[in-house]
Amino acid sequence: MSESITVRVPAKVNVQLAVGAARPDGFHGLANVFLAVGLYDDVTVTPADGLRVTCSGPDAAQVPLDASNLAARAAAVLAERHGIAPDVHIHIAKDIPVAGGMAGGSADAAGALLACDALWATGATREELLAICAELGSDVPFSLVGGAALGVGRGEQLTPVEVGGTFHWVFAVADGGLSTPAVYREFDRLTAGTQVPEPTASAALMEALRAGDPVALAAALSNDLQAPALSLRPSLAGTLAAGTAAGALAALVSGSGPTTAFLTEDEASARKVADALTASGTCRTARIAASPAPGATLR
Ligand code: C5P
Repeated sequence: MSESITVRVPAKVNVQLAVGAARPDGFHGLANVFLAVGLYDDVTVTPADGLRVTCSGPDAAQVPLDASNLAARAAAVLAERHGIAPDVHIHIAKDIPVAGGMAGGSADAAGALLACDALWATGATREELLAICAELGSDVPFSLVGGAALGVGRGEQLTPVEVGGTFHWVFAVADGGLSTPAVYREFDRLTAGTQVPEPTASAALMEALRAGDPVALAAALSNDLQAPALSLRPSLAGTLAAGTAAGALAALVSGSGPTTAFLTEDEASARKVADALTASGTCRTARIAASPAPGATLR
């Protein structure tokens, strides 16, 4: 009998995504406040002949299963660093929207990394795992740590943020994904010829998170990728309006989209907004989730 290890990993929403000018390396400087939300992928690793990825769930067909899969890359990088053959079957039970701006691919990478680390008993330190995460993608370190954090640099340099309560969200999943690089390129196009300010974390936002106050958080939410995401996908304006009309405290695009996020007063209100969004016909499906959620966790 071969042993299997499963790690549960959360999705995220950016409660602030302040984007600076493009850097010489092509990345953008960020003040990125991540909040992990209770929608999860389960990543299971099992010893195998060679490296193989499978995926299950309603959107599994949209997940690449070749070497470009970020979970496969995570396993390959860890194996190489420790002189181990990456002989592992990675199965992703996917519940996080695919290419939706909720860091589903990053979550799978962090999950595969933690699971393979346990399977192979590499003894890697937390710092080493976080460094591998940063190498894999700007959002991957946060998927490992979860909770809430401010990410600076390209978003990978994290400082934990205190959250004093539970926030209730609705996520409206759109048909089809949006490419993150394409949304950043649209940001560059829309801001060309302007002085893009240095991104800084909002003090009002930090205070709202610390207080656990949804009304204050609603007033402080911001996402500089919202305008470029709406420019590429104008129909998202209708989804945002439908959620606001249904009683959400605030509506914004999640990360680079096209998932839209709605902050609500409480769980009952979240259910009402989710039902109204589903009935509105402006999204494929609406999910409710609470935050903060823990980071990658062995099951
Ligand atoms: O780091 P990650 O691979 O997730 O980034 C995907 C793409 O998003 C990058 O290739 C880049 O085009 C864009 N990006 C950016 N600035 C960031 C993070 C991502 O321009 N801080």
